[in-house]
Amino acid sequence: MATANSINSGVRSPQILEQMDQLAAAILQEQKKICKLKGPDADKVDLLSQKFAEYVRSRGREFVYRYISSGRGYGPFTELVDGSVKYDMINGIGTNVLGHAHPLMIRSNLEAALVDTVMCGNLQTYIDANETAITLLNAVREKSRLRHFWFSGSGSCSNDLALKLLWQKRAPKYNLIAFRKAFAGRSIATQDITDKPDYREGMPHLLNVHYAPHFDQKNPDPQASIRNTMAALEEIWAQEGDTFCGLVIELVQGEAGFIFGPREFYLEIFKWAKDRGIYIWVDEVQTFARTRQLFAFQMFGLDEFVDVVTVAKAFHVCGTLFTEELNPRPGLIAGTFNGSIAGLKMGRKSVQHLLSENYYGDDGKIARLERTFLKRFKEIAEGVGRNKITYYGGIGSMISFEVGDGSKKITNEFSNKLFENGVICFTAGQNPMRIRFLLPLVLADVNSSDSGEYIDNKYIDEIFSIVEKTVMEVLK
Ligand SMILES: Cc1ncc(COP(=O)(O)O)c(C=O)c1O
Repeated sequence: MATANSINSGVRSPQILEQMDQLAAAILQEQKKICKLKGPDADKVDLLSQKFAEYVRSRGREFVYRYISSGRGYGPFTELVDGSVKYDMINGIGTNVLGHAHPLMIRSNLEAALVDTVMCGNLQTYIDANETAITLLNAVREKSRLRHFWFSGSGSCSNDLALKLLWQKRAPKYNLIAFRKAFAGRSIATQDITDKPDYREGMPHLLNVHYAPHFDQKNPDPQASIRNTMAALEEIWAQEGDTFCGLVIELVQGEAGFIFGPREFYLEIFKWAKDRGIYIWVDEVQTFARTRQLFAFQMFGLDEFVDVVTVAKAFHVCGTLFTEELNPRPGLIAGTFNGSIAGLKMGRKSVQHLLSENYYGDDGKIARLERTFLKRFKEIAEGVGRNKITYYGGIGSMISFEVGDGSKKITNEFSNKLFENGVICFTAGQNPMRIRFLLPLVLADVNSSDSGEYIDNKYIDEIFSIVEKTVMEVLK
């Protein structure tokens, strides 16, 4: 689905289009060969070690895993340069939402080759940027006040841009409210919002950020958790008064291990902020496309409140949505790049695909995937004993769990062992630390049962048997 006056960028001829179809089919056929777990090829083991050592030297520090992709993979599978194949349950920390070598991805890359550049800029723009921005804005137009979109180079830059809009609008009220355990990125501004002292060692504090607790998932009384947050907000207000430009929140905290509350939690916070003239900035860099609606704010029914929303990762390009009211004065925002032509095409195609193929809603493919994973975790948590998988939860394709005491030591040991055993995950949060899966939605592209779960799904079966085996190995 293209916009009304849709035009294609790049060269085109019947011959090119025919060859592109053939090439897309041939590439897909080759990628599809990466379709099961596999150990390294004997003759390539040294190659991985050598390439790995070179890379560690050039960047000056170790990686989390001994992982360098060969560029081959299909669906949930990724191949490493040593020929080994693993399940990818973290997907570029959220980017490959549809899985590896999805046909739309192959198409986007091939169509980009028809265009006379690699990167699309702001000054000399291409039709792809326009189409992608409009596709995203159309998805929020009906219920929210978001009317504009500006591309940025990363999730962090999208957040920087959001902050600039709020600062200009509310100058000189530059203070910000954020939430404990927040992660907003690595730029100079966002490292100050991120609530993790280890990540800003030796850095000066340039922003004045006040933190309230996010929802406490482990408090048996949700109302008490809400009261606690509201009391903290009142305290901040009593101390600082009307000095705030905005309140920034991840509705599902990504790097904290998927912490989220019920709708009521956000409603109370947002109403409180609106009553005080504080703008609502929702960071959807990690949640975009991954919950039970395209945006988490849509899933929680918070459309009317949002003033500025940032996206990246699964959108394949990055940027900031904002209201008419927050459109800045000339001069404030610019930048060379919108994104790569392939990224822009993939962003638009992904959104169109996700919105038209029954992924969203309470009985959509993502909700079914969530139910299936949580049920499987319940089964192994009860099967291997409560003290081994001590928490499991999440929403949509964002699923997390705690192993044993949730300590850094055990959790890191588990994630490394899981990698060795063939499943790639990532850790998140501290005290407790969680294991995080950002699931590829290809796991949901199979028939599900009447009960709304994916059963007899050979991939999911195998992933859980590896998780269970790894738990037993780590917590003997
Ligand atoms: C919620 C959130 N905000 C911002 C960022 C920063 O995005 P980027 O790494 O693209 O700069 C991330 C990255 O993980 C994130 O999860």
